[in-house]
Amino acid sequence: MAYNLLKGKRGIITGALDSNSIAWKVAEKAHEEGASFVLTNAPIAMRMGEINALAEKTNSKIVPADATSVEELTHLFNQSQEILGGKIDFVLHSIGMSVNIRKKIGYPELNYDYYAKGVDVSAMSLHKMLSVAYQLDALNEHASVVALTYAAAQRTYPFYTDMADIKALLESIARSFGYHYGIKKKVRVNTVSQSPTKTTAGTGIKGFGDFFDYADAISPLGNASAEDCANYCVTLFSDLTKMVTMQNLFHDGGYSTTGVSDLMMKKAGITE
Ligand SMILES: NC(=O)c1ccc[n+]([C@@H]2O[C@H](COP(=O)([O-])OP(=O)(O)OC[C@H]3O[C@@H](n4cnc5c(N)ncnc54)[C@H](O)[C@@H]3O)[C@@H](O)[C@H]2O)c1
Repeated sequence: MAYNLLKGKRGIITGALDSNSIAWKVAEKAHEEGASFVLTNAPIAMRMGEINALAEKTNSKIVPADATSVEELTHLFNQSQEILGGKIDFVLHSIGMSVNIRKKIGYPELNYDYYAKGVDVSAMSLHKMLSVAYQLDALNEHASVVALTYAAAQRTYPFYTDMADIKALLESIARSFGYHYGIKKKVRVNTVSQSPTKTTAGTGIKGFGDFFDYADAISPLGNASAEDCANYCVTLFSDLTKMVTMQNLFHDGGYSTTGVSDLMMKKAGITE
């Protein structure tokens, strides 16, 4: 069911790689809610070609941009305003990549070149996007920027290795830039801390399947799906949440505030 929550709004959606991507679902929902937007991803992801089907389905244009390149991000924001016919009302940062995770390198032995790459792609890219938008004055008053994060920023998950540190930085950037952009133009910046979700980035993490089941058993509502996450992002892009900024918002079925669940105790064989 659609509510026209984003009618007339213009957006930029990063990170739709395939139909499992959280960003893919956000694009579908934003389209249903009346938004027009530009889709973007790293040029290398474009070559896989699946994003074209999403662009067709949502009647949107694609502007490739490597999120680590200020030059490409500047082109993205300029082009998007031209294509959409005005300043931007919402931005989704849905970008994550760790070479250390891909190569299954444990936390105590992290490779620092890979670590730096992960920081640049997955966290500093949010600062770069916001800084480019700020300097171009590309966002409308009350525009909403949402970046996706994970609870390893607050608590330790050994297999999440450098991404735990990187997500902590991402959340800090959202708070710090949220202050400056709020003062300048009432732009709000938030992070959404999402349940484990079966996507390319998610399933690349060692032991992901087991961890997915563990989180599901702990969360009173169960794991939040990518579709649920998309619905939440749409509310954050809408005017209904225009005073929410500089927050890390847990979207996890209650996982982050549950100490223990009956189901988990049973599964662990502690209680019958
Ligand atoms: N899947 C999960 O369990 C989960 C849980 C919480 C948060 N998240 C976060 O959600 C976000 C989206 O991930 P996803 O799970 O949908 O996986 P995904 O693999 O579908 O999306 C990750 C995206 O990042 C893009 N990307 C990588 N390098 C880039 C670059 N240099 N420039 C531009 N884009 C680049 C990829 O092309 C891809 O589209 C990430 O920030 C991830 O950390 C995922």
